[in-house]
Amino acid sequence: MLKLIKKWLGINVKSVSSAIPAIELDKVPAHVAIIMDGNGRWAKQRGLPRVAGHHSGMKNVKKITMAANEIGVKVLTMYAFSTENWKRPKEEVEFLMKLPQEFFPLEIEELIENNVRIRMTGWKEGLPDYTLKAIEGAIERTKENTGLILNFALNYGGRKEMIAGVQDMILDVQNGKLQIEDLDEASFSSYMLTSDLPDPDLLIRTSGELRLSNFLLWQLAYSELWFTEAYWPEFTESLFMQAIAEYQRRGRRYGGI
Ligand code: FPP
Repeated sequence: MLKLIKKWLGINVKSVSSAIPAIELDKVPAHVAIIMDGNGRWAKQRGLPRVAGHHSGMKNVKKITMAANEIGVKVLTMYAFSTENWKRPKEEVEFLMKLPQEFFPLEIEELIENNVRIRMTGWKEGLPDYTLKAIEGAIERTKENTGLILNFALNYGGRKEMIAGVQDMILDVQNGKLQIEDLDEASFSSYMLTSDLPDPDLLIRTSGELRLSNFLLWQLAYSELWFTEAYWPEFTESLFMQAIAEYQRRGRRYGGI
């Protein structure tokens, strides 16, 4: 553990003793959601095409997954592609859609070794076959794993999710499966795509943007929000640990006092 913390903080750090208690392993957020933003700007800064930023961002996914797994995070939801991202230039969309078929063959063995389970939140309809095949193959291969759930939000939008949920709910009312008076926050949550997951305790957004961008709108109601100026490709384990430490310092009151 000490070795890992030293690695996260950078090997030049002389004393990690003050940083270790900053992360209390019994108070680690169960569910962390990340908006991986800034790939395009990271690339532009380096005179590279935008897609180079996405590629570098993809490589960062496993690193942060391992760090989260190491400290006992149960669910890590990564915003990989929103329902609005289809508006991007065709070549960029195509590049993003091809990332899973590069990512999983490259990383799946190590993810399996670390007991990571892959899942997806979003609409399969509209995704190219090769994208679906890559992600479904990874879901299948990791379905018995019991460690961290690496949840890719892919072709996902919060408003669309809520509208679809309300449509299902109305159908259930019409079919007599749900009584209107039984509708409460818990039953509403059961119509969301994440019905089997706890709500995120912590949301991280990189690149200095301070928006939710249609991400998990229902589920983030009481989450702690943490922002960093760092672009996603340069987001490090050390920054991740800073977010966790800051989360642990905050007092969550859920509207109480
Ligand atoms: C936002 O940055 C980022 C995305 C839309 C894509 C994020 C996806 C990954 C990092 C890879 C995911 C990996 C797999 C395996 C699916 P941006 O392009 O909006 O950045 P900008 O605001 O600087 O333009």
